[in-house]
Amino acid sequence: RGTPALQVIERTDVADWWPALGASSEKYARGVVGVATGSATYPGAAVLSVAGALAGPTGLVRYAGSAKDEVLHQHPSVIATGRVADAGRVQAWVCGSGLGTGEESAAELRAVLAAPVPVVLDADALTLLVDGKLADRLRGRDAPIVVTPHDREYARLCGEMPGEDRVAAALRLAAWMNAVVLLKGDRTVVGTPDGRAYVNPTGTPVLATGGTGDVLAGLLGSLLAAGLAPERAAAAAAYLHGLAGREAARGGPVTAPDVAAALRPVLARLA
Ligand code: APR
Ligand code: MG
Repeated sequence: RGTPALQVIERTDVADWWPALGASSEKYARGVVGVATGSATYPGAAVLSVAGALAGPTGLVRYAGSAKDEVLHQHPSVIATGRVADAGRVQAWVCGSGLGTGEESAAELRAVLAAPVPVVLDADALTLLVDGKLADRLRGRDAPIVVTPHDREYARLCGEMPGEDRVAAALRLAAWMNAVVLLKGDRTVVGTPDGRAYVNPTGTPVLATGGTGDVLAGLLGSLLAAGLAPERAAAAAAYLHGLAGREAARGGPVTAPDVAAALRPVLARLA
């Protein structure tokens, strides 16, 4: 039996895909994720994407960017540098949330794209791709790319809104960019360049609050760094993020840090 072209993500899928973390695992073997997000204007985006990355299965998070002080203050276990080029080895990069769209941000995005590892591109990284005509750099890239647009970011990339058929919309962009597309919204879908798609059933409107997308990008990067295939990492991240939103809502009104914190019990129950 082959894999169907359109699949609703199920708990058993995510549990099967989840990287087995043996008792002997040490931090480098569990994967190292690099996070190039945030800016002086948006340090919170850095803190939240790092929170998402820390909740995932990797053993180490490296942060590269100008919100170093805020990130270290909130997350002392992170290794922080100012620039992507100085970050040292990572197995996957997360880039874009709150990064800004100036020349320095563009240089950091180029450094991320030059690394021979999977990358997650979110938010300002997507704007930079469009503005800086960097899309050609994606086509020639060997390592996987996952882009995580919401509808307006999708429209910036594609020139039109996703419309009613979100699966078709995600697949169009995936084929055009040669990237896995995680199209966010009240019906989040994942599309692959070769025409397979996943629909996430766990979404909840409590996620419609500023910064939850940054948490998702960080978690996704951690899954990539831990060695999941890009479409599985994207599908699992969307699924778990939705569950975390529901979990967080049990405690009352939800903010993005609550969603990051709720990833822990959600992941604990997955095992
Ligand atoms: N139902 C389910 N999930 C939703 C819904 C909904 N109605 N609305 C949003 N979500 C989920 C998305 O699937 C995504 O995972 O919440 C997350 C929001 O991510 P982003 O759209 O990237 O928003 P974020 O970046 O966290 O917000 C920061 O960016 O574009 C601006 O104005 C926006 O203030 C916001 C800021
Ligand atoms: Mg966002």
